[in-house]
Amino acid sequence: MAKITFDGIEIEIPDGTTIMNAARTVGGSIVPPAMCYYTPLKGSGGKCRACLVKVTAGSTKDPRPMPKLVPSCITSVQDGMVVENTVNQQVLDVRKGIVEMLLINHPLDCPVCDQAGECDLQNFAFEHGVSTTRYTEERRTFDKIDIGPLIQLHMTRCILCYRCVYTANQIAGDRVHGVLGRGDAAEIGTYIENIIDQDFSGNVIDVCPVGALTDKTWRFKQRVWFTKPVNAHRDCPKCSGNVLLWYKGKDVLRVTARKDEYGEVKEWICNECRFEKKETSDWTIEGPAHIDRSSVISANHYELPVLNHSVVADLPESTQRELEKNPPLKLGS
Ligand code: SF4
Ligand code: FES
Repeated sequence: MAKITFDGIEIEIPDGTTIMNAARTVGGSIVPPAMCYYTPLKGSGGKCRACLVKVTAGSTKDPRPMPKLVPSCITSVQDGMVVENTVNQQVLDVRKGIVEMLLINHPLDCPVCDQAGECDLQNFAFEHGVSTTRYTEERRTFDKIDIGPLIQLHMTRCILCYRCVYTANQIAGDRVHGVLGRGDAAEIGTYIENIIDQDFSGNVIDVCPVGALTDKTWRFKQRVWFTKPVNAHRDCPKCSGNVLLWYKGKDVLRVTARKDEYGEVKEWICNECRFEKKETSDWTIEGPAHIDRSSVISANHYELPVLNHSVVADLPESTQRELEKNPPLKLGS
């Protein structure tokens, strides 16, 4: 076991754990943001630099600070390590720069992007970025590539996190797409217009942190914050069949895998569940889903927010009377 100090909090974790996962054992706002690391995908991390932290003491044996900021998702802890994240101004300033760099080529087309509301880059920019840009050059553009009837690729939105490449490699089998070219010319593409049609290829949509890979069957149908996520399952011979159904009224507009608080897929789902089962009768409904990651989709669903009694006591009397008469919220203790 190694003892480390993270933002002043002492954590004891098994040797070999990454700094990121050590912080996740504490949770909350001290956890560094991640745009490319994805726990279920071997080899992910180390691409986006969103998770950089300052190591002010390397270990008990060698307590010198590490000279540069380190990516917390691929740096292992050592006994006696002292790490600073939210308490270090250099880290916060660099993070602003990372947002700026990621947005150099990413189009600001959130109003028409299907990922809006559940986009990691949108959340990252909101929490860590600045509201102005110094960039006046032309953004990169790409020839459109059709990667099949189910998945839409918008290469201009891609931040080259490689998550989809690892997913295609490790989950879908028969990988036919990957990163072509290098440096400024790097892009996600398929060779000789191969169509991505393996049973589990739809999972690339769930892992993509931005709107570069989206579900064609859900495209432009609805803003995600107007839909209601519901847990459901079916007896599927190919996958666990545990999914989220996204309802608008009585219609299931899309089906996705369930995700944890870090936006990581809990269980991969097959294309049949994702693209072909869009009727309520296809599913056993479990109930409203709790979305616990910080996003606009955490609001406006079927679950009632808990309003603390002490909060109610601070409201104007007329509002309190109105709440009592017509309680729109579940009152907590
Ligand atoms: S398409 Fe999405 S998942 Fe794939 S590398 Fe680009 S940003 Fe990452
Ligand atoms: S999340 Fe660590 S480098 Fe991308």
